[in-house]
Amino acid sequence: MGAHGTTYVRREIWGLQPDDPIVTAYANAVKAMRERPEDDPTSWSYQAAIHGTYATPSHPRWNECQHGTWFFLPWHRMFLYHFEQIVRAAVIEAGGPADWALPYWNYGLGGRNATLPFAFRQPKLADGNDNPLYVAERKPGINSGSSLPGHATSPAGALARPEFIGTAEFGGDRTAPAQFSKSGGELEETPHNVIHVLVGGRGLMGDIKKAAQDPIFWLHHANIDRLWTVWSALPRRSDPTETPWTNQSFEFFNAEGQPVSMRCDEVLATLPGLGYTYDTTPPPTPLPAVPPGARAAALKPPERQLIGASQESIELTGQPASVPVPIDPQAAEAPMAPNQRAYLNVEDIEGEGNPGTVYGVYANLPPNAPADLEAAHRIGNLSFFGIERAREPAGDEPAHGLSTSFDVTALARELEAHNEWAGHALLVTFRPVTLTPPEVPDENDLVQSPADEDRPITIGRVSVFYDA
Ligand code: C2O
Repeated sequence: MGAHGTTYVRREIWGLQPDDPIVTAYANAVKAMRERPEDDPTSWSYQAAIHGTYATPSHPRWNECQHGTWFFLPWHRMFLYHFEQIVRAAVIEAGGPADWALPYWNYGLGGRNATLPFAFRQPKLADGNDNPLYVAERKPGINSGSSLPGHATSPAGALARPEFIGTAEFGGDRTAPAQFSKSGGELEETPHNVIHVLVGGRGLMGDIKKAAQDPIFWLHHANIDRLWTVWSALPRRSDPTETPWTNQSFEFFNAEGQPVSMRCDEVLATLPGLGYTYDTTPPPTPLPAVPPGARAAALKPPERQLIGASQESIELTGQPASVPVPIDPQAAEAPMAPNQRAYLNVEDIEGEGNPGTVYGVYANLPPNAPADLEAAHRIGNLSFFGIERAREPAGDEPAHGLSTSFDVTALARELEAHNEWAGHALLVTFRPVTLTPPEVPDENDLVQSPADEDRPITIGRVSVFYDA
């Protein structure tokens, strides 16, 4: 329970009317926080800068978001928890609901849920004042109700991952704390990164150093946080028990603007410690955790065996592009063992900035394949969220291009069974993901910014690995 014995309930935004007191109280609080001095840790700009900012000189706790690392989920849970307290205090000060909690945006439900919530789309409020929840710098189409495609919003792939730790697992791989490392998990890529770029394009949400300025950021992250609670409650899932994770602490500010510190093992559950829950049915009781020793042994980082790599780099400019990845003929002599897994890595991704385009990644996709055929060949999505950050690593971060890993075990086994694996080339295709405009266009369409020009992205290598 919360400090005053209340359990705060985070509600799905599409289940609320656009003028629900929870929504209007949030809009008013955003406005009030924007009016606070920039060096006040409870101001809108300071909170956003904790996530990331281009502003200098730096203030305490600025640029501390954790991406591409196993700290992605706990850091953002703590960030939202403290932000929610700051907003609630502003809501109460303005006479709003005392049990105010951050709503979440469950785009994964499809239908209207796959469009930006109404309250965030209109530049003006009914009374003629500016809408604090509206941001012009979003991807063209988003503010007029275009739909995000199902494969981009679905958490199914991430929720299916059996482990927390690993680059192609749920929560990301072991790294030191870093604002942008290169070992993100499945949930971080889809739907997290993909939603950032499909909503933000080259605007606020598409850039790690501006994203938290958009009021929708916090509802997106509440949904990501909710998905962590869903995953943790599934059978045989368990959160990290290794001390470099559990003992790691991060610092934030409370509603009074005072520094506070929290450890990862304090945010494993939202109740009772953090005092909030989601409006969904409580997930089933998790199975008892595996003893730490056994888990750690089972999860030692897998040795990797390279069995294929593209010969040339690929440039992505907003059009479909393909590259062959020849699979080593010797892989025929050592067929995959029953518990062995295959991964496709997209490596050394570089570019000057986020092009605002998300690409679907496909294997052996026939040229000009229609949408229904695409689905059967889809490996995952590629979004470039954080590409600016990866270019200019700070502090002790390694200099690196972005990279992403996909589990392609089922595909490899199927091709192996048909003798189309070893000695053959896997054709990997990148196709831009498009939004679907609403049937009845909104008048906002008229004020949309012109389509993004694509900034080129280079992919250094696409490779295929087995874990050994
Ligand atoms: Cu720290 Cu959704 O980003």
